[in-house]
Amino acid sequence: MTARILVAGDANLDLVLRGDVVPRFGQAEQLLDGADLVLGSSAGICAAGLSRLGVATALVARVGADVFGTRTVELLHGAGIDTTAVRVVEDEPTGVSVILSAPEDRAILTLTGALAGLTADEVLRASRGVGHVHFASYFLVPELARELPAVLAALRADGITTSLDTNWDPAETWDGVERCLPLLDVLLPNAAEARALATAVGGRADDVEAAASALAAHGPMVVVKDGAAGGLAVTGREVLRAEGLAMDVVDTTGAGDSFDAGFLAAWTEGRDVGEALRWGAVAGSLSTRGSGGTGGQPTRDEVERAL
Ligand SMILES: Nc1ncnc2c1ncn2[C@@H]1O[C@H](COP(=O)(O)OP(=O)(O)O)[C@@H](O)[C@H]1O
Ligand SMILES: [Mg+2]
Repeated sequence: MTARILVAGDANLDLVLRGDVVPRFGQAEQLLDGADLVLGSSAGICAAGLSRLGVATALVARVGADVFGTRTVELLHGAGIDTTAVRVVEDEPTGVSVILSAPEDRAILTLTGALAGLTADEVLRASRGVGHVHFASYFLVPELARELPAVLAALRADGITTSLDTNWDPAETWDGVERCLPLLDVLLPNAAEARALATAVGGRADDVEAAASALAAHGPMVVVKDGAAGGLAVTGREVLRAEGLAMDVVDTTGAGDSFDAGFLAAWTEGRDVGEALRWGAVAGSLSTRGSGGTGGQPTRDEVERAL
């Protein structure tokens, strides 16, 4: 099987803790209500979402030679993802995120470990034969980020389309993305990221649409995820909107990555931007009905019924 879409970026587990999760130092011991070890990472969750939608999907990423790495690959494989290009490195631990999950908010503690070392060469090698490459978590993979303009140019020269979901920049400098924009087909930020990125490229960011337009002026189609409000797409010519579904939300972890999967599944099979945007919004919304990033991800049938 040759994958139709390659996802490149982070791969790790989320340890989701529930209950009395606000830490009290001084060696206090607190008892929890729940602890789940599930597939995390923007790239991993997006790849799982694509696979669930019936898209032949491969992931290129790095894990360590440890129990978390083994479990990460097991969960990816179980989700139907081609993991041939997931490299196990000997000298670094698998990345992990500990999520302190309270009813109205959460804190995330992340070790990137092995995942940070992903290289441009690994991505280019894995991209042979695919139609589209989606890049996730730009700021967590600095080696690849440095080379991304050259990688995007090489893929474009080969007729392979590309998309980027930077996710949040932990350093909040947003450096380097500007050089990627002219070489990219689709940028997929959330609302806060769109505003931060627009500011970083010297554009207006008074509202989400202004920010998206400022980014689109640099080249790519810009598709912004806007939480319960759904999303909007700014192409060179028009601004389109799609509402999310009204949900009894269980967990919004990975909603944005599931949106990316819905949008990309539709757009790469030739549907127009407006329809792809609706697929994204519906896939994002449905993903919130289950816990963890992948627990609620919809099948193609479920998306089509909800549209
Ligand atoms: N509370 C919600 N109710 C319904 N849909 C939601 C909700 N939160 C998120 N979604 C869906 O998930 C998508 C992505 O969510 P968002 O929070 O904007 O992204 P991210 O996870 O990247 O921050 C939204 O565009 C929407 O389709
Ligand atoms: Mg996101």
